[in-house]
Amino acid sequence: MVMNEITKEIEQLKIEKNAVIFAHYYVNDEVQEIADYIGDSYYLAKIAGSTDAEIIVFCGVSFMGESAKILNPDKTVLMPDISADCPMAHMAEIEKIEEMRKKYDDLAVVCYINSTAELKCHSDVCVTSSNAVKIVKALPNKNVFFIPDENLGRHVAKQIPEKNIILNDGFCHVHAEVTSEDVKTIKEKHPKALVLAHPECRQEVLDIADYTGSTAGIIDYASNSENSEFIICTESGVGYALNENNPDKRFYFAGIKPLCPNMKLNTLEKICHVLKTGENEVFVNDEVCRNALLPLNRMLEMAK
Ligand code: 13P
Ligand code: SF4
Repeated sequence: MVMNEITKEIEQLKIEKNAVIFAHYYVNDEVQEIADYIGDSYYLAKIAGSTDAEIIVFCGVSFMGESAKILNPDKTVLMPDISADCPMAHMAEIEKIEEMRKKYDDLAVVCYINSTAELKCHSDVCVTSSNAVKIVKALPNKNVFFIPDENLGRHVAKQIPEKNIILNDGFCHVHAEVTSEDVKTIKEKHPKALVLAHPECRQEVLDIADYTGSTAGIIDYASNSENSEFIICTESGVGYALNENNPDKRFYFAGIKPLCPNMKLNTLEKICHVLKTGENEVFVNDEVCRNALLPLNRMLEMAK
């Protein structure tokens, strides 16, 4: 790592303040470079509950910072940019959840971790893309309302045909931009490349993928594969870990290199600023914290 002025200052501040930096695989390369923990949303939620540091600087989007706070109410969670939010996290309605609960006696509301703390409060269990199939399969309920992501919900439903999985119409605008045509175009140029896709992609993309999994799943699959070329269908930030772990392999992003504008709001300057000032602290009210903790803890338990 090249230590420039700002990275030196961040290192110093981390020691002074007893802080750690968490980063999702989608943030800018230079942020991943200085992070103490980098991972997919499941890993980051798991680690959040076990850090000894007093301050967590969360380089991701709001639902991630909020989940870290809910799992660690006594710690300070700071976000480099408090406006970094995931639009999909808001794409479900409490009224619809209540309506579904009235309709099905045994309903389980399964909430993708990409959701607001308020939506989590109305859910029975959280999941991430790395454990959704395992958790939904293990639930005793036949009827499941999966919120907010329709594509992940459909991916789970296809693998568990014995359950009635009701889908909600939320989506990720970044993954929705990747089409099967984009994948086919790049596959024509690199016919030996395997297609690795995140389950937030459209069904038409998942239908032609060789592997579907979380960001960490995609990185592990590519790293353990004998193949040397891959077409990646997810946000291009994963390119950093893919290239670091596999300098001899080639990665091509489908479509126009997918970029999550919210993840990219995390910068070194903003990390340094929040460490210095303590600004952008994540607050979750006590009642929401208590209620949202239940589905998060159930996920951590069931995913083991
Ligand atoms: P992962 O859980 O795979 O890291 O995905 C998080 C996310 O926001 C995908 O868009
Ligand atoms: Fe949300 Fe999509 Fe960005 Fe992930 S990539 S944080 S789902 S907007």
